[in-house]
Amino acid sequence: MDLSYILNELAEERDDYFRAIAPPIVQSSNFAFKTVDDLRKSFEDEYSTWLYSRGLNPTVEILRKKLAALDEAEDCLVFNSGAAAIFAAVLANVKSGDHIVSVRNPYTWAQKMFDVILPRFNVTVTYVDGKEADNFTRALQSNTTVIYLETPNSWFFELQDLSAIAAIAKEKNIVTICDNSYCTPLYQKPITLGIDLVLQSATKYISGHSDTVAGVLSGSRKMMERIFNSEYLNIGSGIQPFNAWLLIRGLRTLPARLEKITKTSSEVVQFLKNHPRVEAVYYPMDPSFPQYALARKQMTGGCGLVTFILKAESCAAIETFCNSLRHILMAVSWGGYESLIIPKCAGMKPGAFDKNDPAHRSLRMYIGLEEAAYLISDLTTGFEAIASLS
Ligand SMILES: Cc1ncc(COP(=O)(O)O)c(C=O)c1O
Repeated sequence: MDLSYILNELAEERDDYFRAIAPPIVQSSNFAFKTVDDLRKSFEDEYSTWLYSRGLNPTVEILRKKLAALDEAEDCLVFNSGAAAIFAAVLANVKSGDHIVSVRNPYTWAQKMFDVILPRFNVTVTYVDGKEADNFTRALQSNTTVIYLETPNSWFFELQDLSAIAAIAKEKNIVTICDNSYCTPLYQKPITLGIDLVLQSATKYISGHSDTVAGVLSGSRKMMERIFNSEYLNIGSGIQPFNAWLLIRGLRTLPARLEKITKTSSEVVQFLKNHPRVEAVYYPMDPSFPQYALARKQMTGGCGLVTFILKAESCAAIETFCNSLRHILMAVSWGGYESLIIPKCAGMKPGAFDKNDPAHRSLRMYIGLEEAAYLISDLTTGFEAIASLS
């Protein structure tokens, strides 16, 4: 399906709403039936009818169709957060006694689910270094039902070879789930590489304006219907119509934003690579990246997340760098219009900082829609502030 068609036209039945260009926000909790028979049919098959907005809603429906098409999936569900999409995807595919193999260091709340919630229900998890597909094979047990992936992975962006891991899983009938938040379906399509379920935090690039929290889960129609009738309706974690409308609006400009963000990112990456205060830069689409060949094989763009290692003697020097930035904001998340930065040491306990560990001196930067020169000038202010310490 053509990208422009998906973003501008798919699922938009304008004759149903006054030929309005922007679709309406159907802000209704419930829907009325003309006959008892129609109501009965809806009770029997809520996945095909408007009954109650904890389930389906017409504004959300437009969004679902577009997002499923972008993922090249049969179907998708949209949640009120990426974390809810992760929770539903995993929960739907495990029962007591099952085992999961996960890439190490998955997104914080995926890891919390694995480490804190699932053990209460006798579901165990083995973490593996995802850079080698064979590590997944080695970790499999007879009770493994799920392989959980996130590629590129948080902070240092380690990649997993999606088609190799999908092949391993298919042989054993294991469900594969991939967090695709880094790339969005524009720059990576895990389902086309054999992955069963793909999810993303739509809070990031799909929203694109740092004003909505949402999550997407795509897969086969059969799997989505099963999740809808169980986890989705039961946890009540579906997206609200207004937030769905904001995401439809975000989708209109997604390709333009990603193109600009990716271009600016490579300029900022070049600047950082050449700066004497920077020890290393991690960006999957840069030739210096250790898994560059795999990045080129399964991704089509780099997006805006970059991690760099600062040459700094202390945590205080890193703090000076960050505190002196005037435009790049210090905040979690990414994918919006504004550039952001987080130093690893912000999440460390006092006294834990070791200047000899490069990871402790790492900063993750998200590059937004500002001009490269504007960001480079702000980073230069930060570098000058550390230089003035010595
Ligand atoms: C890689 C990744 N996956 C999932 C999530 C969860 O998304 P949300 O914050 O929309 O719940 C995040 C949030 O930061 C993330 O970074």
